[in-house]
Amino acid sequence: MEEAKIPTDTSEHGTLPQRESALVGKRVVLGISGGIAAYKAAELVRLLRKAGATVQVVMTKAAQAFITPLTLQTLSGRKVATELFDLTQESEIGHISIADSADLLMIAPATADVLAKLSLGLADDLLSTVALASAAPLLVCPAMNVNMWNKPQVQHHVAQLAAFGAYIVGPAPGELACGWVGPGRMVEPAEIVASTESILSAQQRKDLRGRWVVITAGPTYEPLDPVRFIGNRSSGKMGFALAADAAARGAEVTLIAGPVALDTPPGVHRTNVESAKEMAQAVLPLLDRSRPPDCVVMAAAVADYRPSEVATRKRKKHELGQSPAIALTENPDILRSLGQKRGKSATLLVGFAAETHDVEAYARRKLTEKGCDVIIANNVAEDGSGFGTDTNRVTILTRREEGSVEVVPLPLLSKAAVSDKIWSHLLSLLPAQPKG
Ligand code: CTP
Repeated sequence: MEEAKIPTDTSEHGTLPQRESALVGKRVVLGISGGIAAYKAAELVRLLRKAGATVQVVMTKAAQAFITPLTLQTLSGRKVATELFDLTQESEIGHISIADSADLLMIAPATADVLAKLSLGLADDLLSTVALASAAPLLVCPAMNVNMWNKPQVQHHVAQLAAFGAYIVGPAPGELACGWVGPGRMVEPAEIVASTESILSAQQRKDLRGRWVVITAGPTYEPLDPVRFIGNRSSGKMGFALAADAAARGAEVTLIAGPVALDTPPGVHRTNVESAKEMAQAVLPLLDRSRPPDCVVMAAAVADYRPSEVATRKRKKHELGQSPAIALTENPDILRSLGQKRGKSATLLVGFAAETHDVEAYARRKLTEKGCDVIIANNVAEDGSGFGTDTNRVTILTRREEGSVEVVPLPLLSKAAVSDKIWSHLLSLLPAQPKG
């Protein structure tokens, strides 16, 4: 099992085994564009090489105003490519051969100008031409002034690139060289290297190729009137991490998302819903398809109840009185319905159990009562676990033959690493794919 993106190991489970970096023997083409963060590219080259990669640097003209090709040539041990139409460079290097040689194309820093070029498919210098000609995964690390970053044009180009399948890492918030504070800093080289490793290791695996997985994520909002709703604290991060990982592993991914402020991971088909009823309507018919999903993961925190009456106009205070009571009706239990509906189909059903106490006992009960194969249980009252955090400590309960339940507790991990472990486990439960 891969140990990608695992943060510091703070658990009592001891040190996690270290794996060889996924960068060993890989060829990274590093494009550097003209921003002050270009100076960090020197450290990036050093770390990439330390992890075992060879690095071919491509610099824009503007990048050379911030850091010299000589520095990067010395650190990379290779001639830096700068010109599209340079007779010497073209004969020695060639933009197509650079593009073809890449296992991964990384652009760090990526300025607003470069983002726009990549998104529009312009190719008027060496870097943009290499990017257009390359079939390798693209990782982009934006860095710019916060007002530039917030411009709708820039956001549009970033969203477009993500939709084309690019991995966007950063920018990080903080103090910027221009004196402003906010998102705009290039993420630190060590973090970029960690992201590169997890992209490459996911690319290497592709072990969910040919599978169709459906994932629900986020909260549901149950309307009271056009203005108010009842909801919960789910951020959707765990479900989105699962969707991103499944797509990176080659699955076809349908993500049914409640109201969350998260970008769609590359390669994922997303349907937005608001209420539990809408989520049920989006999920349940998928089981009726001639080829049902291989796996459904209910990571959403579905509201158990909804207001019995939804007003079409805003309820005014004077109508509600001093202590208004809200009558509630139970929502459909989507996971339970999936358990009943799947019949003999081979769809693997996975639920989550968000608990604040007696975690394992409640999770066991949900496994049986909801008729699913796996429950991922977590204590949402624990530090670093549950809603809104970037980490999670989960226990995986799996129904085994003759009614026994296998219980596997995991240490505290980043949600990306938890999702990696979950998919590796689920993969072992999926029936073998028919050949051909
Ligand atoms: N779930 C669902 N439909 C609902 C409620 C929950 O599909 N109406 C799913 C969740 O997506 C999750 C699992 O059931 O995968 C368990 O959800 P959880 O909120 O932990 O449990 P509940 O069934 O709501 O039970 P309780 O609130 O008593 O813990």
